[in-house]
Amino acid sequence: VFASDQYELLDFGEGRKLERFGAQIVDRPAPAATDAVRRRDMWSQATISFDRDERTQGKWSVAAEIDAPWTVHHDAVVFTLKPSPLGQVGLFAEQAENWDWIAARVRSAGRPLKVLNLFAYTGGSTLAAAAAGAEVTHVDAARSAIAWARRNAIASGMEDAPIHWIQEDAMKFVRRELKRGRQYDAVILDPPSFGRGPKGETWKLTEHLSELLSLCCALTEHTRCFVLLTCHSGELAFGEALLEFLRTSQPELRRHGSLSGQDLWLVSRAGGRVHCGAAVRWCKCDVGNSHNAGEREAARSIR
Ligand SMILES: C[S@@+](CC[C@H](N)C(=O)[O-])C[C@H]1O[C@@H](n2cnc3c(N)ncnc32)[C@H](O)[C@@H]1O
Repeated sequence: VFASDQYELLDFGEGRKLERFGAQIVDRPAPAATDAVRRRDMWSQATISFDRDERTQGKWSVAAEIDAPWTVHHDAVVFTLKPSPLGQVGLFAEQAENWDWIAARVRSAGRPLKVLNLFAYTGGSTLAAAAAGAEVTHVDAARSAIAWARRNAIASGMEDAPIHWIQEDAMKFVRRELKRGRQYDAVILDPPSFGRGPKGETWKLTEHLSELLSLCCALTEHTRCFVLLTCHSGELAFGEALLEFLRTSQPELRRHGSLSGQDLWLVSRAGGRVHCGAAVRWCKCDVGNSHNAGEREAARSIR
């Protein structure tokens, strides 16, 4: 998954996590880490920390000089990182095992794939797919997220890769592509619980996910090779629940391929785990779609 000199969860507990992203050690809130007890000795290493307060979205305190933005890499993909206003640094490390899966699906397809990445953020999935040889359409509502993803593409030496950068509301884009008769081989979606399109369009996970998935099924009807959905909030943040949601709302996926669900975790040096959401993977064949114990253990031990 991530080489430990690039990313490591050092410790967590009492509602916070301590992570090393390359040269920087970041201390920030993690609601899923509320019950654990922290190892006090480690936390003074933090070079940046983020605190929420009631009046603002929160603020960063920087303990050391930061050559911002700094970088970490995962395989061929280089991420440029910087503290952002909501307490993120531009990378969700728990997605790394999904990037590995995406790259494996693209490489094993035996033909060039057209991949659609919705809610694409800073481009981890886009660049993993493109590095493996796919043509990717990268859709995000935020101009700043698109610009960040493009910076990551340049840092990764992929400025000339076949990536279409689209600033658009995810639902609107998918509807338009269907009207134009376009088809894709694969769809990746990482929807937030709530979001806004560039023209103020409202995205609500609980209200809109089922319809968006149906449209994505139609958009991949003829040559569907894989689908990856991740969720991080509410009931759908759990692997079993997300899998059940897909099974019931998209019977077509149940019939024509292999569907599997899993929880996403960050695993600390000491082997403790912080829950970070869920992933459901649909794949045309069984091979390579397992979240079996051996594969999960291998992923954990690498971290
Ligand atoms: C990647 S998701 C966040 C998932 C994240 N792992 C979490 O914990 O919620 C957030 C991305 O979705 C984008 N987004 C939000 N609403 C959108 C919409 N209606 N259409 C397209 N992109 C949207 C945001 O700009 C952001 O880059």
